[in-house]
Amino acid sequence: MSGKPTAIIFGGLNTCSRALAAFLVPLDGEPLVSHLRIVDKYSVNPPTTYLGAEFPQVLEKGIVEYKQANLTIPSTVTSCFDPPAGQEAYSYVFDLTGEIQWDRPEQVQIKTTFNVARLVGLEAAKRKVQAYVRLQHPFYECKEKGSHDEKEDVKPDGVLGTWWHETLRMLASIEDLNLVVLRSAMVYGPYVDYGVVMCFIAVASTYGYIKQPMKALWGPGKHPTHTVHVEDVAGGMWACAEWMSKIGRKEANSIAGEEILFKNDKSKVKEVEGMVAPDQKCVAPAFNIEDDSNTSMADLGNIITSFFGTTFEFHNFLTNMLANWKLEENVEEINESHVSNWTEMIQKSNPPVSKLHYTAYMDLYHLKKHVVAFNATKLKEVVGYKLRRPQINHDTLREVIDKLKAEGSWPNLQGSS
Ligand SMILES: *[C@@H]1O[C@H](CO)[C@@H](O)[C@H](O)[C@H]1NC(C)=O
Repeated sequence: MSGKPTAIIFGGLNTCSRALAAFLVPLDGEPLVSHLRIVDKYSVNPPTTYLGAEFPQVLEKGIVEYKQANLTIPSTVTSCFDPPAGQEAYSYVFDLTGEIQWDRPEQVQIKTTFNVARLVGLEAAKRKVQAYVRLQHPFYECKEKGSHDEKEDVKPDGVLGTWWHETLRMLASIEDLNLVVLRSAMVYGPYVDYGVVMCFIAVASTYGYIKQPMKALWGPGKHPTHTVHVEDVAGGMWACAEWMSKIGRKEANSIAGEEILFKNDKSKVKEVEGMVAPDQKCVAPAFNIEDDSNTSMADLGNIITSFFGTTFEFHNFLTNMLANWKLEENVEEINESHVSNWTEMIQKSNPPVSKLHYTAYMDLYHLKKHVVAFNATKLKEVVGYKLRRPQINHDTLREVIDKLKAEGSWPNLQGSS
């Protein structure tokens, strides 16, 4: 045996799992684990979801195994923990499960976010895994001003945010689980195909193409819109696992425990099996992760639009008011030019775009104002994590776009980004 830990990644093929797998088992270089199992509902061969160019190569590594599984079924979850013959029980579990679509009904959130994590968490506790790192997305409305640390009382955003947050309380209540919660800012990076930043990048590219300023709602744009590179989400999860495995839950709680407040409707407790009573105190070690860019929405807009050779502005106050007031009704109109320009860019691309996956369509969620700020000082000080990509800038954007162009999923136009 190599003495390295073994790991399972549950879910998240549509978010950060592919980057995490590539971090644990890099294409060039020493793997951090002796064996990695990845479990999700998708088929990877043939793929039933977007995989990006690098992940299939990670899957070809001998120490990596992919399992397609329906994690809503308890016996399936149990069997995912059975190690391959001759191998000891899994050391680390990375829990990236959960439904990320903002418009799914509550019953779907309960079934696929709350219940799946509960099955995985309970089984992981039973198997005594040394670390269980849960990735929490920025499904919160943060405060515009403040410390932005883990103690700040942030409001879960809608049905999606409420059940993701409830899931944290449930996991925290599993006493024997070596749980660490890592809460990320807005993720971007190569092959990341979800979230507000990547959508913004696609739309900004269309304004660069027509050489017009990109005009945004929500002026003056001073609210924090903090970002994190997907490689740092992966690195942060790994660092949390290593940290936890040395100390265990009890000590971790005493060093870094945070109370996870009740934010749900009290009547749900009777309806949902495994939900923790509102008055029960739930404490888990929890860390934020974001880069050091500290971007406001205007900053982020300037960085991204200037990359595509254009500028970022805000609509005037009146347009703002109107759009804000009737946003639901204006989604299609707002998208008309984005989508037609994106289509034109794809048609003109040389070499042609062979994978039609990314889009410049901004749905209601992406058009809404999101305030996200999760100060990462605690992760740096307590876990000792050092950011690999401390700034979002033209270099990090260039890398993203170049990789997408190379795999044929981003339009390649002469003389433009
Ligand atoms: C997963 O299993 C559940 C429960 O049996 C079922 O309702 C659901 O359709 C299954 N999902 C998939 C994608 O097969």
